[in-house]
Order: sequence, then structure tokens, then C-alpha cells
Amino acid sequence: MFKKLSNLENISFNKYDKHVFVCVNSRIDLDRTSCGDQGLKLRGTIIEGLRKYSYNLNIRINKSGCLNECKLGPAIVIYPQGFWYYNVELSDVPEIIEKSIIGDDYIKRLKR
Ligand code: FES
Repeated sequence: MFKKLSNLENISFNKYDKHVFVCVNSRIDLDRTSCGDQGLKLRGTIIEGLRKYSYNLNIRINKSGCLNECKLGPAIVIYPQGFWYYNVELSDVPEIIEKSIIGDDYIKRLKR
């Protein structure tokens, strides 16, 4: 059984200020969509884009396996906010970095 977390409100479980998971799952079965190369390019673009910032944030951009949103990929999720973004394009990266990784704002047009 799950325990209530209410007694743990003042404890931080976050190792990073922002932790981003980018799906890079690639399927051999071409009948099924997967984020694959698009996800890899997306992750690289996010990492490259973050190099411009001198903010003292502890950020991690991880490759992820399938996030179970394959038809809406490439998909990413940003913690601790729990922002899920779908059909992300490389041109979306500067806005994602500024608003959701450096900032804490949700970009509504990237929801499902
Ligand atoms: S392959 Fe990316 S969400 Fe499933």
C-alpha cells in the first residue's frame, strides 16, 4: 500500500532543479510510430540551447524510453512541474527552454 506523503511536505526529493526526459525510443516495426531520431535531435538541441544560459540551475536532460504517447511524438516531460509536451519541433526549443526549463510556465499549445 502507498503511504501518504503529507508528513513529508518539507523534504525535497529532487536531485535536479529541472529534470527533462526526451523520448528517443526507436522501433524497428515501421508500422508503429516512434520518436527515435527526432527525439535525439530534440534532446541535442535542448542541451545546445541551454549552453547559452549562465543561470546557476542544476538541470539534467535525459534520454527516455517510450513515454507511451507515440502518435503524439516526439514527446517530452519536464519535472518537477510535470509538464508534458507533444509533437515538439526543433523550433519550439527556445520557447521551452525560456518558459518551462529556465522558467516555470506551461506552454499550452504543446499539450495533447
Ligand atoms: S516512442 Fe516516444 S512516446 Fe512512444
